[in-house]
Amino acid sequence: MKIAVTGKGGVGKTTLAGGLARLLAKQGFNVVAVDADPDANLASSLGIPEEEMAEVVPIADMKELIAERTGSKPGTFGSYFKMNPKVDDLPEALSKLHDGVRLLIMGTVKEGGGGCICPESVMLKALLQHLLIARKDMVILDMEAGLEHLGRGTAASVDAMIIVIEPGMRSVQTANTIRKLASDLLVPRVYVVINKVQDPEEAEIISRRLDGLPLLGSISFSPVVRRADIEGKSPYDLDSAFVEEVREIKDRLFAELGVEE
Ligand SMILES: Nc1ncnc2c1ncn2[C@@H]1O[C@H](COP(=O)(O)OP(=O)(O)O)[C@@H](O)[C@H]1O
Ligand SMILES: [Mg+2]
Repeated sequence: MKIAVTGKGGVGKTTLAGGLARLLAKQGFNVVAVDADPDANLASSLGIPEEEMAEVVPIADMKELIAERTGSKPGTFGSYFKMNPKVDDLPEALSKLHDGVRLLIMGTVKEGGGGCICPESVMLKALLQHLLIARKDMVILDMEAGLEHLGRGTAASVDAMIIVIEPGMRSVQTANTIRKLASDLLVPRVYVVINKVQDPEEAEIISRRLDGLPLLGSISFSPVVRRADIEGKSPYDLDSAFVEEVREIKDRLFAELGVEE
């Protein structure tokens, strides 16, 4: 199963992606968590200590590897390079393994504009495609709202996209924008999770505004989840109520997708 988590900045994408990844690993699945947000912070949500991440280089910045795999010469513009670099060994080689979750940090590609294709973006695209198509793992993608990393073809290969929203109409509007993007990119299924719910009535009101977008569940506002972030720890390790809510979301998702456990 391949799941992309999206939503407006600050809604809790990374919190949910980290929670889902840890839960699935606990349940015995091979999990690859992909940090595809330029503002990468999935590691702390998974519970990986900051010191351990200090030396981790995002894949987009691995100049030598990219040059070697794509056959491009760094610094030369407009040269020829392979469009299908070898990537199948990279999820093992480049990931950080923690509590059964393999974390991959994609990094950002600064493209020259005008739709230029550069070796870095070819590399990331090939890796994502490999993860989504060729592998049997559970893949959780922590994305930004813009879906930049999901080109046509790649997006169609996820099984589902979860849009995280907060109680509030602005968040619902963002959800609708993302939903249109997702539909243009042929994402097969799109769901919503409402996060930071302070009372059930809020979730009720928002769910009526979702215009047919199916709701997978909600997560309560939790001072413990917030505190975990402040301490750079995983809410999965500190907040059992959070874990229970993530479990319900996962169960609903599995039921929707007809995944057998
Ligand atoms: N259910 C929750 N209760 C309290 N705080 C939360 C909750 N979910 C997320 N947060 C906090 O909101 C902030 C943004 O969450 P984060 O997962 O990083 O969002 P995003 O990845 O969408 O930018 C973090 O400080 C996080 O701890
Ligand atoms: Mg995030």
